[in-house]
Amino acid sequence: MTHQKRIFSGIQPTGQLTLGNYLGAIRNWVKLQDDCETLYCVVDQHAVTVYQDPQNLRQSTLEVGACLMACGLSVENNILFNQSRNPDQAELGWYFNCVARMGWLNRMTQFKEKAGKNRENASTGLFTYPNLMSADILAYKATHVPVGEDQKQHLELCRDIAQKFNNDYDCDDFFPLAEPQILGDATRVMSLRDGTKKMSKSDPSPASRIHLTDTVDDIAKKIRKATTDSDVLPTTPDGLQGRPEAKNLVTIYSALQDQSIEQGLQTVGGMGWGDFKRELADVATAHLGGISAEFNRLMDDPSYVDTVLKSGAEKAKIISQPILKQVREHMGFLQ
Ligand code: AQP
Repeated sequence: MTHQKRIFSGIQPTGQLTLGNYLGAIRNWVKLQDDCETLYCVVDQHAVTVYQDPQNLRQSTLEVGACLMACGLSVENNILFNQSRNPDQAELGWYFNCVARMGWLNRMTQFKEKAGKNRENASTGLFTYPNLMSADILAYKATHVPVGEDQKQHLELCRDIAQKFNNDYDCDDFFPLAEPQILGDATRVMSLRDGTKKMSKSDPSPASRIHLTDTVDDIAKKIRKATTDSDVLPTTPDGLQGRPEAKNLVTIYSALQDQSIEQGLQTVGGMGWGDFKRELADVATAHLGGISAEFNRLMDDPSYVDTVLKSGAEKAKIISQPILKQVREHMGFLQ
C-alpha cells in the first residue's frame, strides 16, 4: 500500500519563537504549504513535560499560533491547531508507550541534554516525549515531517515504532515510515553567545537568541553583542572550520537570503566583524520586521487566533478519528 503524501510538524509553546525555529522549521513549512495536505500543530502537551505556568501556557499557545500565521502559514491551505484539542494524539501516545522499548528511549540524546545531571528529577513525560511525538505524526499517517536537525533521532524512533506496531499487530504497512525533511543549510542554528550550543527558546539568556517578535532595535543590539573570534571572515566555507561563531553567523546571513554559505561568503568574505554585523543586522531586520508587525496585528485580537486553532483541531479530528478506530481494532479493544 502506498500512503498518500501528508505533512505534519509541531512546535512547542515554551516561549517566544526563535530564528532557529524559523530557519530550521517554519520557513520550510511555509514553502511546503502548497505541496500536499499539511498539518501544523502547536504542541502544548509536549510543553508541559517541563512545568509551565498555566496562564503563560495559554498566552504562549496563542502567541505561537499567531507567530506561525505571521510567518506566512495560510489558514486556508494548512490545518493549524493546538495538540490538546485533539485527544486522539494523546491516546495513540499511550499505545506507543506500550510499543516503544525502554532501550530505544534511553538512547535519545535530547532527553539526556534536557534532563541534564538531575535525571532522577526529570518528568516521566520528558522521557516518553518521543512516543507522543510519534503519535502526533502517525495519528494522521503523515509521510513527511519537516524539522530541524535536532529532531532527526526522534524521527528514527517514530519509524521504529511504526514498524514494530505493523509487525506486532500483523497489519503490514498500516502506519507509514515517515521521512524527516531536513532542508537547507541552517538546520541547526546556534546560540549567539556560544557557537557550540543550539539556539533555544528556553535558554536562560535572551541575548543567546533572536525572537521572531523582537523589535528592529533588539535584533540589531543582539547581533552587535554576538560572540565572535578575532579573525576576519574567510572567503570560502573551508575557512569556517573550527570557527563555530563565524560559521553560525554566516549561515544565518546566507539562509535569510536563501543563499548557500558559499554564495553568502562571496559578499561578506574578507569583512571585519563590525562591517559584517551591520550587514547581518540589516538583512535580519529587513526579513523579520514584517513578521513582528504582522504578529502584533494578529495579537490585537487573540480570540481570532483561538478560533483558527479551534477550527483547525476539528479538521484534524476528521483525519485522525478513523485512523484511531482502526488502531483500536488492530489492538483488540471492544468498540
Ligand atoms: N536552533 C535550531 N536550529 C534549527 N532548527 C531548530 N528547531 C528548534 N531549534 C532549532 C526546530 O524547530 C522546530 C520546533 O522545535 P520545538 O519547539 O518543538 O522544540 P525544540 O527543538 O526543543 O526547540 P527549542 O527552541 O530548543 O525549544 P525548547 O527551548 O523549549 O526546548 C523543530 O523542528 C526543531 O527541529
